[in-house]
Amino acid sequence: MSDWWTTIALPVIAFMRRQNYPAASLDAYALFWRNEILPLLGPCTTPVVYPSWITDDHTPVEFSVVLGSGTRSVLRFSFEPSALPLAGDRSLATLKRTLERLGCALTMESTLDLEWFDICADELLLGESQERVCTDQAPVSETSIGIDLAHRSANIKVYFMPRIRSLISQELPEDMISRTTERLGLHKPWAAILQFLSRFSPADRPNIDIVAIDCVPASRNRLKIYFRTDIASYAQMEYFLTLGGVLATQDIGAGLRNATLIWDTLTSVSENGNALLGKASGFPGALIYYELKHGADVPSSKVYLPVHRYFRDDLVISRAVAHLASKLPDVSSVAKGYPDFIQETFPYRSLSSRTGIHTYVACTVKPGGSDVSVYYNPESFAPERTRKQLRSLL
Ligand SMILES: *[C@@H]1O[C@H](CO)[C@@H](O)[C@H](O)[C@H]1NC(C)=O
Repeated sequence: MSDWWTTIALPVIAFMRRQNYPAASLDAYALFWRNEILPLLGPCTTPVVYPSWITDDHTPVEFSVVLGSGTRSVLRFSFEPSALPLAGDRSLATLKRTLERLGCALTMESTLDLEWFDICADELLLGESQERVCTDQAPVSETSIGIDLAHRSANIKVYFMPRIRSLISQELPEDMISRTTERLGLHKPWAAILQFLSRFSPADRPNIDIVAIDCVPASRNRLKIYFRTDIASYAQMEYFLTLGGVLATQDIGAGLRNATLIWDTLTSVSENGNALLGKASGFPGALIYYELKHGADVPSSKVYLPVHRYFRDDLVISRAVAHLASKLPDVSSVAKGYPDFIQETFPYRSLSSRTGIHTYVACTVKPGGSDVSVYYNPESFAPERTRKQLRSLL
């Protein structure tokens, strides 16, 4: 029996309700989840038929919330359409049809435009005819889909994993992206990134993880390039966020203040007066992305700190998030009752039992501003859930 509805759609809707989405949007998005998204996720059974790489427990969906009041507090999610590879169909044609279908089902900010998608697919994915990559017999997706569900309109994104083609073709992801950015007219901001990367020794060089685009016309589109890297100190985080100081020529002071706030809050959480998170003095395995678009010679940036790896449990993290929100202007409404809301929304286990629900706390840095968001794994395959399922079968 598919239980994606209870484990994923209900928590997402609970977040939207808490963020005061209009009733008509809530209804429309609930239908969208039921009719369009859940059927794409494949069977929700254990043992897991299709182990998605989107989350640690293989749940094929991760969602996030921008901390903010009113219409700023957008709910976003990304998912792996596992049903397609399971059915043996990993063709680009099917992926495009799926995107078009999702576009039709949503009230979009602008009509779906796949020009950048076609270029990225051409440069970053294995061709249809090429050998398939398998790990432990399971098919590996080279793409995933993201959707921003704003209060009154939506937006579709596609994520590409260049490393899979790179394994087969032996090309460097950087070279693949050089060709992509050339074709997209983004070679100038990409050159700034290459310049930055050249400062690292080969062993320390951040690795390219993901490339993402929006499905909108080129003039409004953004290419995001995600790097995985270790961040050991605030200074190092700022070094990455400013591309080694290059972006500091722009008006990013306000955005960096939010980055400082996140760092200070997450590294100083304490319980019973004891500094509790010895390990959270740094964040190995963090993500950084640089966003490239037309009309901007240098990128903007975002950092993702993997809180699930470095805190004791979700209760500690939820208190840290509440504390963080209480310090941000206009966001104090998010802080109020936040740990209780999280416990009610994820009732199958105690927040204090372990980490897993909160995955990343992230911060963008753009000229003139920034936003802070929190990422969640709805834990469809949490052992606490599957143990219960097993008991009810016996
Ligand atoms: C910092 O982040 C919060 C939460 O997303 C946002 O409301 C605020 O505008 C940001 N501050 C600046 C200076 O951009």
